[in-house]
Amino acid sequence: MLTLLGGRFARAQDPSATPPASTEAPPGTAPVSAPPASQKAPLFTFAMASDSHIGSNKKTAKFMRQWEQATDEIKAYNPAFVLFLGDLVDSGEVPENQQHYPTWLAIAKKMEKPLICVPGNHDPVEMFTQHIQKETDTVYDHQDLLRVIAFHDAQPNPKHDGTITPAQIAWMDKMIAEAPGSGKNVILASHVVFHKNLPPDRAWYVKEGREAFEDLLKKHQARLFAMYSGHFHNGIRGWNDLDIHEVMMPATCYNLMRIKEGEAPLQQWIEKGGGFVLDEFRPGWVQAEVYPNRMILKYKPLGATSDAQKLLS
Ligand SMILES: [Fe+2]
Repeated sequence: MLTLLGGRFARAQDPSATPPASTEAPPGTAPVSAPPASQKAPLFTFAMASDSHIGSNKKTAKFMRQWEQATDEIKAYNPAFVLFLGDLVDSGEVPENQQHYPTWLAIAKKMEKPLICVPGNHDPVEMFTQHIQKETDTVYDHQDLLRVIAFHDAQPNPKHDGTITPAQIAWMDKMIAEAPGSGKNVILASHVVFHKNLPPDRAWYVKEGREAFEDLLKKHQARLFAMYSGHFHNGIRGWNDLDIHEVMMPATCYNLMRIKEGEAPLQQWIEKGGGFVLDEFRPGWVQAEVYPNRMILKYKPLGATSDAQKLLS
């Protein structure tokens, strides 16, 4: 059986879309087949989008059009499935905004793809479960190649931090242990990132249940490839603290640089906040190309092409 994302590999620095002809595992790890030199196409692709915020600041029509454009583009991309990382509607606790949930879903359904969503801080659980998905915490398997564990970790608006409950930890422990296949072929998806991002980043992260969640991550390092989240509207921004990629996805409504002034602002951002950030901040979504042992994330600005991409390996 082909093992996707299996084993531990030296971190590649070259964000090339072409996998190498061979890959050596470090001592002490099981050898895993390298992709053939001729394999240039991904095993499969999926799409990620986040933070459509329909209803925000009277920009309802604009943000709705952008969500429609994102879904049109995602449909044309023809991914295996679509992950949406929260804040479907802006201030979904406000009654006049709640009408946007069924509209949001009607647009999403036009993609005709399996859709896995998590609620954001702007999405009250009762709205999310009534209109979008029966459960906030779900598991999706793409064949036996990749397991997605999607869960609700956002405290309700106007809060921005994350909470993970003991029941969620126990459930995730079981879902990771029972994931089909082997190696690093499990990803977690939620709205609020785990990484403790201090200024110049927002300092919004999982604060309640943090210790138990960190224990879970350490326990399952050999199975967890990545954790994907939304919430920050900072384009593609990420870290890798526990040999697990943590990447925040861009918003479809708008994205902002955290450091806007001075020379080399992106470099300053990274020097202060660690990790990486891509040089792209237009509203957009993400194409995820899955190869054996690696994933390439490609930032897709709405209506445009972009070279901004990140190799995760
Ligand atoms: Fe949010």
